[in-house]
Formats: sequence, C-alpha cells, structure tokens
Amino acid sequence: MSYQHTLSIIKPDATRRNLTGAINAKLEAAGLTIIAQKRLHISKIHAQKFYQVHMSQPFYDELCEFMSSAPIVVQVLAGENAVAVNRDVMGATNPADAQPGTIRAEFALSIGENSVHGSDADDTAIQEIAFFFSEIELVG
Ligand code: CMP
Repeated sequence: MSYQHTLSIIKPDATRRNLTGAINAKLEAAGLTIIAQKRLHISKIHAQKFYQVHMSQPFYDELCEFMSSAPIVVQVLAGENAVAVNRDVMGATNPADAQPGTIRAEFALSIGENSVHGSDADDTAIQEIAFFFSEIELVG
C-alpha cells in the first residue's frame, strides 16, 4: 500500500450531461479524496499535447477533437493506491467491458466518449498532474 496522487478528467460527454456530481460521488465512495479540481475548456492543441502518447493511434484526432469540444473537469485524487483504486472505479476503457457499478458501465456512451480519464501508473500520474496543476493548487 502506498499513498498516491492520480489525475482524473471528467470528459465532455459527462459535463454535457451534468454528471460531475454523480461521478464525484462514486470517486469519494471508493475512498478517494478530491484534493484539487477545476473546470476548463481546453484547445485542441492542448488536447494533442496531453494525449501525445497516442499520437500514432487511428483515434488520436477524434480523441483530441472530442476532448476540446466542451468543458472538462480536471482533478487530483489522493489516497492509498489511488492510481489503481481510481482505475477500478472507472471501469474498463470500453464501457461494454466495464464491471457493473463502475463509472464507465453506468455513464459512458462509447469507447471514445467514455466519461472519465485516469492516470495508468504512478509516474504517468506525476506527469499528468503537472500538466494541469501547480503544487500550490493541491490541497491535501
Ligand atoms: P483515456 O483513458 O482517456 O485514454 C485514451 C483514450 O483514447 C481512451 O480513454 C479512450 O477514450 C480513447 N480511445 C481508446 N481506444 C479508442 C478507440 N478505439 N476509438 C476511439 N477512442 C478510443
């Protein structure tokens, strides 16, 4: 067990449907603490930079277009094993494969419009948090 921070993003399909509170309730019920949160409308260029690891994927342009299409809510979640706990509560990337009760099983519309993003490892979390937040904004 280790205390971690992880980056979470509530995506445009969820903000459009006013699901921020419902998603936050699931995160908190899973034992995660939201120690930073802000609502942003990012440009496509910022989305391309954030998702540059997926640059060679066929869905990259669609993904960046979608992430810049409406507001997102970026968050830092904290807790014991926060990276894995958040991935468990999010559910599988494709909502068709997500376990019942997970965020994506309940709210995601498709593999692209899948309501939330979460860091996939501790080192990725550090990089992704630094992309959106400065240290003074993390209020743990
Ligand atoms: P996320 O956790 O934000 O990380 C990368 C995103 O790419 C992923 O969630 C999906 O929303 C998206 N993605 C992955 N595979 C596909 C796909 N086959 N088609 C469209 N989008 C995808």
